Amino acid sequence: MDVLSVSSLKGGVGKTTVALGLASAALAREQRTLVVDIDPQTDVTTGLAVAPGKALNIADVLRNPSPDVVRHAIVSSAWTEHRQTAVDVLVGSPRAIEFDVPAPRPRDIWRLDEALSLLEDAYDVVIIDCPPSLNALTRNAWLASDRVLLVTEPSLFAVSAIGRALKAIDELSVDQQVPIKPLGVLINRFRKQSIEHEFRIAELEQLYPRQILDVRLPERASLQQAQGSAQPVHSWPSESGKKMAAQFDQLLDEFEHAVKNDPSGHEHRKTIKGAKKSK
Ligand SMILES: Nc1ncnc2c1ncn2[C@@H]1O[C@H](COP(=O)(O)OP(=O)(O)O)[C@@H](O)[C@H]1O
Ligand SMILES: [Mg+2]
Repeated sequence: MDVLSVSSLKGGVGKTTVALGLASAALAREQRTLVVDIDPQTDVTTGLAVAPGKALNIADVLRNPSPDVVRHAIVSSAWTEHRQTAVDVLVGSPRAIEFDVPAPRPRDIWRLDEALSLLEDAYDVVIIDCPPSLNALTRNAWLASDRVLLVTEPSLFAVSAIGRALKAIDELSVDQQVPIKPLGVLINRFRKQSIEHEFRIAELEQLYPRQILDVRLPERASLQQAQGSAQPVHSWPSESGKKMAAQFDQLLDEFEHAVKNDPSGHEHRKTIKGAKKSK
């Protein structure tokens, strides 16, 4: 089971869009997929057409990551209908905000990791949609992940948020004495004709030469249309939809290659987990 956080310290840059696109790519590969909605805005839960109903949710899991609670907080998404493979959702909740304290107790930032360790054999890939803040929720997500994907738009403020995010990853890594590994920086929503975008992309490449991913996502209405009708982009019939789907395939490849070639983040989750839990 490979776990990826989709993160950024800025709202509205495309985290949820990318999480959905990757889930769509995993579904197209018939991988057993779990999407974890740790953002109190619960957009990815909505995007997967899951109505927050009677089921338990992420807030309950963070409070008590026991097998019973975890099981009841996961539901199958509407994408799974008429298909063999599951895209499940660990359902989001506005109540998750209660956990998003800036100075959490150390054991409170390992709770998602604890929950996911129960699911090691149930899924091939787990995608976590993060909130834009750097408090307990994001830390839970990062510590539970094999890789962290940082999403940015080519704008001034988003560029500075990437610097802060990379620094925060390093700091948490040192603080918790575990390797937290960025997958890289994904540039989203670029427009070819924009001089400002070209300038910001050049700046990003200069600032973070090893981190900028080859995959870049242009701004496309097809993504919004697929989202609006709660469909995986891989099922969206337009040419533009197909091109976007291919970009997400490539992004999922990058993730899989990264984990395969350097699995230490992955291994750590299996081995250190037990030790942390017993603390
Ligand atoms: N590449 C893209 N092309 C077109 N629209 C996009 C793209 N990426 C994101 N959007 C739109 O931008 C808005 C914000 O994206 P979202 O994924 O919700 O960001 P975040 O999760 O970071 O807050 C959404 O309406 C989404 O549909
Ligand atoms: Mg979002």
